[in-house]
Amino acid sequence: MKSVNEIRAVFLDYFRRQGHEIVPSAPLVPRNDPSLMFTNAGMVPFKNVFTGLEKRPYRRATSAQKCVRAGGKHNDLDNVGYTARHHTFFEMLGNFSFGDYFKEEAIYHAWNVLTKEFELKPEKLLVTIYHTDDEAAAFWKKIAGLPDNKIIRIATADNFWAMGDTGPCGPCSEIFYDHGDKIFGGPPGSADEDGDRFIEIWNLVFMQYEQVAPGERRDLPHPSIDTGMGLERIAAVLQNVHDNYDIDLFRALIHASEQATGVKAVGEWQASHRVIADHLRSSAFLIADGVLPANEGRGYVLRRIMRRAMRHAQLLGAKEPLLWRLLPVLVQEMGQAYPELIRAQALIAETLQLEEKRFRKTLERGLSLLDDESAGLAAGDSLAGDIAFRLYDTYGFPPDLTQDALRRRNIGVDMAGFDKAMARQKAEARRHWAGSGEAATEAVWFGLRDKLGAVEFLGYDTDKAEAAITALLRNGEEVASVKAGQAAAVLCNQTPFYAESGGQIGDTGTISGKNFLFKVENTRKKADGLIVHFGTVAKGTIKTGDTAELAIDAPRRLAVRRNHSATHLLHEALRRVLGNHVAQKGALVSDERLRFDFSHPKPLTKQEITEIEALANSFILQNTPVQTRIMALDEARALGARALFGEKYGDEVRVVSMGLAEAGGLPETGSKPAPAWSIELCGGTHVRQTGDIGLLHIITEGAVAAGQRRIEALTGAAARRYLAGQDEIAQAAAAALKTAPRNVAERLAVVLEERRKLEKDLQEARKKLALGGVGDNAEKVEMINGLPFMAKIVAGMGSRELKSLADQAKSQIKSGIVVFIGLAEDKKAVLTIGVTQDKTKLVSAVDLVRIGAAALGGTGGGGRADMAQAGGPQGDKAEQAIAAIRRKLASL
Ligand code: ALA
Repeated sequence: MKSVNEIRAVFLDYFRRQGHEIVPSAPLVPRNDPSLMFTNAGMVPFKNVFTGLEKRPYRRATSAQKCVRAGGKHNDLDNVGYTARHHTFFEMLGNFSFGDYFKEEAIYHAWNVLTKEFELKPEKLLVTIYHTDDEAAAFWKKIAGLPDNKIIRIATADNFWAMGDTGPCGPCSEIFYDHGDKIFGGPPGSADEDGDRFIEIWNLVFMQYEQVAPGERRDLPHPSIDTGMGLERIAAVLQNVHDNYDIDLFRALIHASEQATGVKAVGEWQASHRVIADHLRSSAFLIADGVLPANEGRGYVLRRIMRRAMRHAQLLGAKEPLLWRLLPVLVQEMGQAYPELIRAQALIAETLQLEEKRFRKTLERGLSLLDDESAGLAAGDSLAGDIAFRLYDTYGFPPDLTQDALRRRNIGVDMAGFDKAMARQKAEARRHWAGSGEAATEAVWFGLRDKLGAVEFLGYDTDKAEAAITALLRNGEEVASVKAGQAAAVLCNQTPFYAESGGQIGDTGTISGKNFLFKVENTRKKADGLIVHFGTVAKGTIKTGDTAELAIDAPRRLAVRRNHSATHLLHEALRRVLGNHVAQKGALVSDERLRFDFSHPKPLTKQEITEIEALANSFILQNTPVQTRIMALDEARALGARALFGEKYGDEVRVVSMGLAEAGGLPETGSKPAPAWSIELCGGTHVRQTGDIGLLHIITEGAVAAGQRRIEALTGAAARRYLAGQDEIAQAAAAALKTAPRNVAERLAVVLEERRKLEKDLQEARKKLALGGVGDNAEKVEMINGLPFMAKIVAGMGSRELKSLADQAKSQIKSGIVVFIGLAEDKKAVLTIGVTQDKTKLVSAVDLVRIGAAALGGTGGGGRADMAQAGGPQGDKAEQAIAAIRRKLASL
């Protein structure tokens, strides 16, 4: 018996030997298709390769692709649990030719794999073809030697495969396995074809067309091949069981849920175990690919799947949340082939547990309401739509859960009534916002939110995605198209663009289609759930309904992510170094820098800054994964997550943690995450590993308001550039000082000290020069009107020096008047006049200085009778000033 893992390996290896590239499974959320909810076939990731839009370095590929069929064209949710072969999650094995081989080789390989690699008996196989495809019939005859009665022509869409309403498509040929006449059922095309005897195991699609729009089909550039074989089905055949749920993988899962509940998977309990096993797989894989439970879009499909399984867990009598306890078995079975399960194990476990805990709170009351309301109904009746709506609205029962609960009694649900009740509630909400103040300017957004639903954000996982344009706005009004040169707001059904929030700036980038290019200059949130791209049409015309490729400016976002994660580390480092009073007051995270405002009463010391920086950087160097999880607000609080005081949070929050609180290696994969060093509620985008930040460097610290400080810092390349610049400055300074950069400060201190000394010496020398000869050379002192008088014009002395100079001169001449005019380089003059005490009765220095100042173009002047000073702008009039003073003395 071959295990599921072996079958997968044999298949991929066969095609590898035939020159096919083994391509790893793409995520369940398609990046290259706006119309698809989930990847639902192996060919989805190759869609653009088939149509010629995308080139790859290979023309043959093979894959085991994870698929979800719940919601959209291929939706199997309702049947799961009650049939042998329906799954919401399954793996599709496939081989692909992009304009390389076609029908003949595809049939050849399929036959080879089934009869040689898998050693199936040829007589157990039969095929269908599209009724007009004589070519395929001829190859089946030639290659497999099948008789005409085993090549069944089918005229319906069953043998014309299409991915969705649009996309590549073509006639197909399906291979069936005959489980033998002990099982009821007829060959395809017969009246009993729905029985379990003849089971389709492989579909070969001869891709020839692209459905561009309903009714519009065009040829693909080259005929191509897409095949799909359900791994679970072929495993059932190879393991000789007739039911997919009996293969090794499902047996392990069902065994685990039997053990956990103590209820055997037999009789009426079988369906519940199957639902749990199947839904556990789809939930776990969806969460691993970034989908989280929500009330809209993909998240809502996930929630429906999870809650459907959780009701069955409750039916089986599980007293505690069950699904998360089965996860280790799934990881053991599938983790090797899909390492994302291992990576996301903690997140999956927490999400499952939280959802089940929460749902259990209302499940029982909802079920008892359902019992009461359906008590009088008989098989064939329908439950009233408004009851189904109440179950949905108050008790969190998605309508398909209600349908599932009534299914056993063959009671339906009035879905039209349900939709009506839903529409009524929406109208109520609309009346509410239409009357609120904010609505006046924002009404258009609320209207769009109502009409289109929330926009799904894909940007945690991808920088690029395809999307459909759902609305266009110019000057606040909805329009059908916008053309080159016009500014507009663009709405899409999904987007990788991050809308400005939580301090993180909005993304920029491009939205492009076949006929247009739109430059996104900013992205903002509107009306609780809309993500709006603002910008200008650079080329062509955009129309509502167009398909577009959305691409953010990825390097810019990467820089933003660095700064955002660094902000968290900085925040924590501040608290650890400064104390618990540190609370975030504001933050701005851009591609260029980060800014963080926080409460703290005084400036940070140099040492504190160094310590904070060193601490944050030690966690960057630790280079551990940054973890994001969704949990209930109170659980997040219990974990010690930092939240913004006064901020409104929903009851479910996103928690970002980084850094290992205790060093000593990463936690065992799959175990509970080790206590993180920094834990914050945050909706922003972050680096994958702390090491991606590179480096955190604080560039400024200052005050913003009383008791509030602000730090600005750089990370990554910006920090490196900044420090390189600083280094250059240090080098230049060192070169000028003729020393090494590390000696600059010391050397500079010496130079400054020398300069101070020199300045002092210079002053002394100037004073000496100015006083030169006074006392010894009596002729320097003249007599005016019997008064000893001395006057000098000196350069390079300030008012203080002039005063001390005048004092010295006074004591040298003993009695009389001294005048000094100091000339500065800018030609301004400072006039200083000293009168010895014995002469102050005769003449006041203040009077004299006023006379001199007037000659120098100045006004005023002041001091005492024995010493006064004044300034004047006209230093070139110094001689005239002295002459005026002389005249005054002469006239006394
Ligand atoms: N794309 C084809 C299918 O899903 C092979 O059946």
